[in-house]
Amino acid sequence: MERTFAIIKPDAVRKKLAGPILTRIEEAGFLVRGLRMIQMSRREAEGFYHVHRERPFFGGLTDFMSSGPSLVMCLEAPDAIRKWRELMGATDPSKAAPGTLRKDFGASIDNNATHGSDAPETAAFELGYFFRGMELS
Ligand code: RTP
Ligand code: MG
Repeated sequence: MERTFAIIKPDAVRKKLAGPILTRIEEAGFLVRGLRMIQMSRREAEGFYHVHRERPFFGGLTDFMSSGPSLVMCLEAPDAIRKWRELMGATDPSKAAPGTLRKDFGASIDNNATHGSDAPETAAFELGYFFRGMELS
């Protein structure tokens, strides 16, 4: 079993897509091990996406991530990190494969509905950023 960190981003929560996305997560075989609704401060979003701090989209990205409530999650499955990235689809919804969450629920590269860790080290950092060990089942 492996654990990954996932977010249902503010655009999807605003559009009442959290329920449909959670259904797809459970149908795909993930166990939800942790789940909380939060609204990130700008500073928290900057810390979360610090690897992108030099990128031109950093300001827009952290503005967006702190623009409203999002759902932060710990998902468990065999090969969870790769499997969750596959279910999400490509970063840009217009390039995402049919049947992926970003294709079905994302509006643009900035408003792309979900986040997922991209490697084991990232998953460990991101899970620890939002969850205390005792909050995860
Ligand atoms: P995420 O971290 O949100 O799961 O997305 P990702 O791994 O697929 O993509 P990443 O490269 O980590 O980028 C993080 C978020 O920044 C926005 N982005 N905009 N305008 C651009 O070229 C651009 N590139 C990335 C996206 O919203 C992406 O989810
Ligand atoms: Mg990423």
